[in-house]
Amino acid sequence: GLTTARALARRPASTGAELRSEVPLPPPFQVPLPLPPVLKPVSATGGIDRYEMTQRATTAEILPGVKTPLWTYEGTFPGPTIEARRGRPVTVTHRNKLPVPAVVHLHGGRTPAASDGYPTDLILPDGWPDAARRAQGGHGGHGGHAMSGMHDPRAVVTRLTRDYTFPMDQRSALLWYHDHRMDFTAPAIWRGLAGLQIVRDDDEDALGLPAGRRELPLMITDRAFAADGTLTYPALDPDLREQPGVQEPYLAGVLGDVILVNGAPWPVHEVDAARYRLRVLNASNARHYELEAVTGDGRRLDLVQIGADQGLLAAPVTHPRLPIAPAERYDVVIDFSDVPVGGRVTLVNRLGSGRTRDVMAFRVARKAADDSRVPRVLANDLPAWRRSDAARVRDISFRAGRMHGGHGWLIDGKPFDPARTDVTTRLGDVEIWRLVADVHHPVHLHLVGFRVLSRGGRPPLAHDAGLKDTVSLRPGESVEIITRFDGYRGRYLFHCHNAEHEDMGMMANLEII
Ligand code: C2O
Ligand code: CU
Repeated sequence: GLTTARALARRPASTGAELRSEVPLPPPFQVPLPLPPVLKPVSATGGIDRYEMTQRATTAEILPGVKTPLWTYEGTFPGPTIEARRGRPVTVTHRNKLPVPAVVHLHGGRTPAASDGYPTDLILPDGWPDAARRAQGGHGGHGGHAMSGMHDPRAVVTRLTRDYTFPMDQRSALLWYHDHRMDFTAPAIWRGLAGLQIVRDDDEDALGLPAGRRELPLMITDRAFAADGTLTYPALDPDLREQPGVQEPYLAGVLGDVILVNGAPWPVHEVDAARYRLRVLNASNARHYELEAVTGDGRRLDLVQIGADQGLLAAPVTHPRLPIAPAERYDVVIDFSDVPVGGRVTLVNRLGSGRTRDVMAFRVARKAADDSRVPRVLANDLPAWRRSDAARVRDISFRAGRMHGGHGWLIDGKPFDPARTDVTTRLGDVEIWRLVADVHHPVHLHLVGFRVLSRGGRPPLAHDAGLKDTVSLRPGESVEIITRFDGYRGRYLFHCHNAEHEDMGMMANLEII
């Protein structure tokens, strides 16, 4: 099933630019910011929160007056948010009513390998029992054996429903779940398969950070809309699948001309003249942003970063603007108290042009009391691994190359192969990875958080602070990260989180023994 990768690999380079929507686009800052619904557990007994989710196709009005078919978790895009407490396990039973197989991965989760959503560990669509039996060589029934993929790494594991168990034994953080099927992750996320999972704990609650209505999750994505309202995606064009002779790489990944926040185009949100906590996730397939908050009279508001991908920083870091690569999260406090009532603050993407320069706006609606705080010390549990702790140093390259007769994106010269182990490490070992890139690649490791040790031979940048699970490699740049491989043994992944690069081979197996 490399159809998508091949189709993308054969895209003419001239079409690698931003896709253009063919429907009228709304003016910015008209649509109210939606907040994803919080999913209710079906039971909370025995110290475990149990959830059920159905993946299904639906139609939604993303652009006013335009009907757009989507693939969703529970009928919404973004999917419903799961609110979790540190140390309290969460089980999610997924049922697949999509027309295609599905795989769920909790990005940033410290998850046992069996629930980590390996790309061939499929949930088959409802109503595919025959296909399920065939995929299991005739002796399967409904649902496969959870471990069958372990004996033959090439075996495709299939089920009709799937229980994912997340121990949630990890720092408070904004995580996200999304599809992870081999070769088809990018189009699945593009069509709507992404949602948030937030881990909280008592230490964080005690800090007095802005909370409740003043804490806003912001999932930023870009999309493009065809004349019939469907989401444009190049690999979904059947003509491309067998187009001969086109060998140019699809360099950038897929970019749209519409910016959505929580699934709404260039939304606006009414705020108090007070501090807000913005939990920003770049869930775009390939687009990078550089965010800046600008008032109506051209003043820039500070972005006070309090957390990174894997939770709170040791201390706040103030940024004039923040770059955010696909899959990265930044937890940021912004203070609207100096903005006059009726004033507007625009979240701008400095890397965009034309309509992709705007992201969303806040309209300050009223004066209000504010007893929130941003303490000088946020957390004292950040791992402080030193170079001398490292059992080994690895060099790992992220570069374009040949794959399946076309261009692909490779790690150490190889496209992803589920049957090959690329990196083997020992549970508990500290390692330094020196990552090097040809073009922009946001590199993500499953299971572990890491710290950035150096960037381009220099100390890390201000936004590299804290514990991360995704790091943005800039063109030609080498970045050193350090981590301890602890938690669980088993087979995990690391990959580029440009979703098209990931589908085109830029993924590798990490075995913890
Ligand atoms: Cu966001 Cu391998 O995942
Ligand atoms: Cu990449």
